[in-house]
Amino acid sequence: MASMARGGSWWVRKMIEGDTHSTAALQPPQVTLRTFSFPQDYSAVLELWEQAGPGVHVGRSDQPEEIHKKLQRDPDLFLVAEMGGRIIGTVLGGYDGRRGIVYHLAVALAYRQDGIGALLMEELERRLQDRGCLKCYLLVTLDNQDSIHFYEKRGWQRMPLYIYGKELL
Ligand SMILES: CC(C)(COP(=O)(O)OP(=O)(O)OC[C@H]1O[C@@H](n2cnc3c(N)ncnc32)[C@H](O)[C@@H]1OP(=O)(O)O)[C@@H](O)C(=O)NCCC(=O)NCCS
Repeated sequence: MASMARGGSWWVRKMIEGDTHSTAALQPPQVTLRTFSFPQDYSAVLELWEQAGPGVHVGRSDQPEEIHKKLQRDPDLFLVAEMGGRIIGTVLGGYDGRRGIVYHLAVALAYRQDGIGALLMEELERRLQDRGCLKCYLLVTLDNQDSIHFYEKRGWQRMPLYIYGKELL
């Protein structure tokens, strides 16, 4: 589990916009990263994905039974970011013994540009490294410029490949 006291960004802005007179307003909210818990977290996470914009495609693999199936493998690679008891970010990772994969990195709109996406990715990459994962992949749609910038700045390299998919079931 990782946590981070906000050091001068999100919580300071909120304090300025809100009530700065009460003692409670002086307590910085903390972002906590923890492993996704099924089924308790499912509806909040689904709502976050559905509101994340076109970069997160919610499909049949996100149905409860499919998420449950995914958690039979690598449950600790599905992370949520929480602040004040509310889930505000997610990343869903996997490892097949050869490569890692990253799905559904998403931060709730009101909490973006505050380092939470970076925190989630750092923790997922650390957990993959701990397993001995040499290389990891992720998919970004061509028009998702913000995310392309985000990943490239963090060492992810575009690969000159086509991605093929085939429905098996
Ligand atoms: C992509 C996404 C997850 C990034 O999350 P995020 O929490 O906004 O990411 P971060 O805050 O860690 O980083 C974003 C930018 O904010 C900057 N930032 C970080 N902390 C900051 C702060 N305190 N103040 C201002 N900017 C800050 C970062 O430096 C970064 O900018 P940079 O890339 O120019 O350095 C988020 O934009 C999102 O949910 N997008 C929609 C879903 C999506 O498309 N997901 C990707 C699927 S492939």
